[in-house]
This record gives sequence, structure tokens and C-alpha cells, in this order.
Amino acid sequence: MLKKATVFNCNNCGYESLKWLGKCPACGGFNSFSEEAKELKKKGGGEYRGFDAGFKTGPLKDVETGRKQRISTGISEADRVFGGGIVKGSLALLGGEPGAGKSTMALAISENVAKSGRKVIYISGEESPGQIKMRADRTGAGSPSLFVASETCVERIAEEIEREKPSLVVVDSIQTVYKDSIDALAGSVSQIKESCAHLMYAAKKTGVPVIIIGHVTKDGSIAGPKMLEHMVDVVLYFESEQINNFKVLRAVKNRFGSTNEIGVFEMGASGITEVASPSKILLDGIKEQKAGSGIVTVMEGTRPLMLEIQALTARRNFGNPQRTVTGVDYNRFLIILAVLEKKMGLSLENQDVFVNVAGGIRIFETGSDLGLAAAVYSGFRNSPVSTKTVYIGELGLDGEVRPVHFMDLRIAEAERMGFERAVIPARSKTGETRIKLERISSIEELKKIIITD
Ligand SMILES: Nc1ncnc2c1ncn2[C@@H]1O[C@H](COP(=O)(O)OP(=O)(O)O)[C@@H](O)[C@H]1O
Ligand SMILES: [Mg+2]
Ligand SMILES: [Zn+2]
Repeated sequence: MLKKATVFNCNNCGYESLKWLGKCPACGGFNSFSEEAKELKKKGGGEYRGFDAGFKTGPLKDVETGRKQRISTGISEADRVFGGGIVKGSLALLGGEPGAGKSTMALAISENVAKSGRKVIYISGEESPGQIKMRADRTGAGSPSLFVASETCVERIAEEIEREKPSLVVVDSIQTVYKDSIDALAGSVSQIKESCAHLMYAAKKTGVPVIIIGHVTKDGSIAGPKMLEHMVDVVLYFESEQINNFKVLRAVKNRFGSTNEIGVFEMGASGITEVASPSKILLDGIKEQKAGSGIVTVMEGTRPLMLEIQALTARRNFGNPQRTVTGVDYNRFLIILAVLEKKMGLSLENQDVFVNVAGGIRIFETGSDLGLAAAVYSGFRNSPVSTKTVYIGELGLDGEVRPVHFMDLRIAEAERMGFERAVIPARSKTGETRIKLERISSIEELKKIIITD
């Protein structure tokens, strides 16, 4: 008697196990396994044969890269995150939590491409054409060459791609499609993986770029798109951590461009709009003089972003002093406090210290060290600093102020934002600028910049 084989797959990462596991050994997720029928693979992946019109070797120098074949999304923030537009024949994954704006974004891109008469097919297993039409009416999409379909069978989607050879295809979402030849439910790990592989195959074979949308849930209750990251060309996520009320689209993988690029958007009833100058909004309405403040320029990919770091110190008469930070690395913060105590003579041992990055942003780099130090110092001394001064530099344990990369870009952003002065490392090389540069080599020199009593 033939027993039907089943396996257990992790919903987070796709790890496969023969028995149920409470904790995934690959990604550490709890209760993330679900049982699925084991796919019996055909030998040698027969169905994907003829991928490139037969097996043939050729000189590498003659291979055409198609590198410049990019399609603009019509949204410059999105183009940058894609690495300069969508590459033909690429498969991109657009992930995010429900309500993040994936469908809205994909529809906006579809409309922009279709506007010039190119055919775009938006396939949705999530919404009916009527619902898509409602969103389209709301956001102003409706070019004659924008086609919609509610289809969930990937074989049929792939056939349509081959037949129509549109300029762009969107599949919303990968969790709703299924491959007929796989004996598993739509949304299961094996369906998601196999459907993705099939769409990849269709994209590469036809040169049609495909964007697949994938839902991410915090609790991992549905199989997520994480397991697809290694298969697809581009992975973009809408971040749940937002800058103010903005939606941040971040590239976490890009075979055709840099990662760590972000695009900043605002979501409203009329759809998605790009925020070209987040620095301006982040620094909007800030007072000219402020104690406990340090303005910094951090890099998000190739884009400089100006932020305010705020610090508050408060005397504590008994008990252990608290250190509370949001938006900056805790260990980095402790190092900077130690340097301030040692080199600037700040006695913080009986002080609670709170640090916050305005706008709810997280800083992942060291170029903001100097600004953090300035914020704590001016906060502790209760000495207002000018918010027209930006602080850029990394701190060493010996109190040295060290150069950071992209100095010119950071200074240029400050200049663009109307800053008058930049405190930078003495050793940094800089180009032309109208901003007054204060070069310091050691943290002690902050004293003469933040004038006290
Ligand atoms: N009818 C509506 N009117 C105004 N805003 C809406 C409407 N429907 C959706 N939105 C906004 O658009 C956002 C993104 O929705 P959507 O693109 O459907 O997200 P996703 O596809 O990622 O689940 C929602 O969080 C909501 O703020
Ligand atoms: Mg959606
Ligand atoms: Zn896992």
C-alpha cells in the first residue's frame, strides 16, 4: 500500500522536517510548522527545461546583460529603491504587513507604466476586479492598457505572460496563487515556493518583469515571503517602523542595484505620494536654539537624512540611574556616555539619561556619535545649541573625532536644508561648500562649540 508522504514546513523560512517541531532549528520561530503533502519532484526539474532554448555554452564576453533595460516606475523614490527602475525579466518581491500599501504601490506603478500605452497586467487573487477598480478610481488609475484579472493558477498566469508579453505583470499576492501540479493548498510553503519558481521561470523566459506581493505577519501565522528572498532578484519591504506617518520602502536585496536604499512615501485617500525631502519634514518647526539637542546627518543607502537626537538628563537622588534610549544602539550610547564622563568631565553617575531620535527613526551607523554626544552634553549643561548646526563624526574610545564616509553628501544635504555650520572631524576631506566647517579632532573641543555658562 502506498502511504501518502507528508512533511512539515516552517511558515517563516520554509525549513523542511519529517516530524513536527515546536521550534524551528533554522530561524528559531516557535509553533511555525504546518503539515503538507510532500511534492514528488520530477527528476531533473523537467518542466523547467528549455529555459534558455537548450543547453549551449558560449563565450562569456558575448553574453548580453540587458543591463540598461530598465522600466521606470514613474515614481522616483521607487525607481531609486529598485536600483534605477525595474529590470526587464526580473522578479521582484514586494513585502509588508497588511495595510502597508503594497497593492496601492503596485497599482500606482502599473498605472504609470501603462500610461505610455504599454500593456500591464495586474493579477489579483486578493481582490475582485470591482475592488481594484474602486482603488483605481480613488487613486486615479485607469489607462486603457492597464488590464486586471482575478486569476490564482500560476500555470495560467504564466501562459498569459507568454501569450501577451506585457511590459509588466503584478501578482497580488503570492499567498493566494497555486500551482495546479502541486498537491497542497494555496498559501502553503510548498505552493508559495513552487509558484514563485514558476513565475521566475516565466519572467526569465519572456523578459517580462514580474512583481509579486507577499504578506508578512508579525506572528508568522501565515507562510511568509521570507523563504522566497533567495529565489527572487529584488526584495523590497514596506517597513512597519515608520518615519512619522510615512511609509518607508526598503530594498533588502537587489541583484541589480544597491541595497539599503529607502523610499519615503505618504499614504492618503488619493493613494501614494512620494516624500522627496524627508529631512525637511523631520526638522520642521524645530526651535532655533535648544538644549539637549544634536542635529545629525545619517545615510540611508545613498540618501542623506537629517535628524534630531534629543537628550534629557535628570538628577536621581537614590537608586541606580536609568539609561533609556530609543532609535540609537544601546551599547554605542553607553560608550559615548563613558567618553563624555572621562573626557569632558561630565558626572552622570547620579543622572538618569534619556535619548530619543525624533520622528521614530532608528540609526544604524556611527556618523551620529558626535551629535549624540553634543545632545547629551548640552542637555546636561542645560546650554542651548543652535539647531542650524549639524554634527557629523564618529567617536573613538580615546575621544578622537573620526571621519565617516559620504562626508560631502552629508554636508550637501545640510546646505540644502539651510544649515549654517557643520562640526566635522578634522581629518575629513571635503569639497566646496558654503557652510561654515568647524573641524575638531577631539571631543574636548565640543566645549568651545557648545558655549557654556
Ligand atoms: N478606501 C480607502 N480610503 C482611504 N484610504 C484607504 C482606503 N483603502 C485603503 N486605504 C489606505 O491605503 C493603505 C494601504 O492599503 P493597501 O495598498 O490595500 O495595503 P496592502 O496591499 O499592503 O495590504 C491602507 O493602510 C489605508 O491607509
Ligand atoms: Mg493588498
Ligand atoms: Zn523557520
